[in-house]
Amino acid sequence: MRWMHAAGRALLVAAVVLAGYAGFGVRADAGGGAASERRGPLTLVTAGDLTDYLSPLLDDWNRDHPDERVTLVELPDSADETRAQMISELRSGRDRFDVLNIDVAWTSEFAAAGWISPLERDRFPLDAFLRPVVDTATFDGRLYAVPYVTNAGLLYYRKDILDREGEQPPRTWAELARQARTLAPKYGLDGYAGQFLPYEGLTVNATEAVHSAGGSILRDDGARVTVDSDAARAGLRFLADGVRDGWIPREALGYKEEESRQAFQDGRLLFLRNWPYVYADASAEGANVAGRFGAVPLPGPAGPGASVLGGSNLAVSSRARHPASAADLISYLTSERVQRRVLTEGSLPPVRAALYEDPELIRAYPYLPTLRQSVLSAVPRPKSPRYDQVSLAVQAVAQDVMALRQTPEQAAARLARELGTISRRG
Ligand code: GLC
Repeated sequence: MRWMHAAGRALLVAAVVLAGYAGFGVRADAGGGAASERRGPLTLVTAGDLTDYLSPLLDDWNRDHPDERVTLVELPDSADETRAQMISELRSGRDRFDVLNIDVAWTSEFAAAGWISPLERDRFPLDAFLRPVVDTATFDGRLYAVPYVTNAGLLYYRKDILDREGEQPPRTWAELARQARTLAPKYGLDGYAGQFLPYEGLTVNATEAVHSAGGSILRDDGARVTVDSDAARAGLRFLADGVRDGWIPREALGYKEEESRQAFQDGRLLFLRNWPYVYADASAEGANVAGRFGAVPLPGPAGPGASVLGGSNLAVSSRARHPASAADLISYLTSERVQRRVLTEGSLPPVRAALYEDPELIRAYPYLPTLRQSVLSAVPRPKSPRYDQVSLAVQAVAQDVMALRQTPEQAAARLARELGTISRRG
């Protein structure tokens, strides 16, 4: 709306005031009109609920809202498959989904495509959320979703082994590589793994390596390609070195979140890059490594590295049958009471800032301060309507680097060319 002169803006404001907000959270000018006041049953669609915590939360809502009951639709747990299935449903024009739990990575694409409705900012307590997460829910200056869960990568390490060796958890890549190379084999373990199968998880891991080295892939929300740099090459080289020198096991090239978690949890890995949900699973009674591991910020070349900002946002489908109920459900799921349960029952990082400073929660989840710091310093993904193409290009190149088919130099140059084409296309 930058192009609008003052008179135009005043007219628009007047029009919005006249049309009125629906008052239920979904903007009346989103095309819904009176429809945005509709109430009734809902469907909430989400990626796989890995910690099985959502049903009880929805049962409580359903008990209190017998006429607005929510049906949960769980899609596969990989980011890309979830996106593909949601999009195929949204493109078909059916109205099966009302509320969408979308990865922060895809929010701009869904907004630009018109699949989700803009929301009324005042309806949601955005000031109570961690600041960087709110930005992931906006596109083109408008709010299109409400932050629900945030995420930042952590380095999990085997505390029992490092303690026995008199070692501290690694703060730099060199320390990580040395410990992974020397200690892991001594204890019959593999060294280091992350999410290295080509999908959004590999984009995240490669981006983190590049950012940790002080580089970037794109700037200005995708408008400027910056990957052909020494720092970006150093990031890619960290991953390639791990495979070449054997401290990243070949098997890890097929890992998504769950496979890598399992490897660590079974006691097969010394180090793992993964999201905070792993903390609870790996601490559970019966887990091989329960009580024997810790989590620290991701390392970088000369000190702490940088995580990618993960998480998901709740949006109202533009075909929602009952938008007013949809907005209420979003308020419920992002309320402080439910956000606390997102942490305690779902082991997922909440978006409400106050919870990270709650002494009782810090006692129960000692990694909370580390996590808060990692979220606040995490790097958001570009807000590009074509982020899916960007991600595919990054994955393909990172896969070739890790399969040792291309050098980091060749890969960075190729990625710069491909991203240049994508940014020119639109
Ligand atoms: C986690 C993150 C999400 C990311 C995905 C990649 O689900 O929350 O933002 O895109 O992992 O696999």
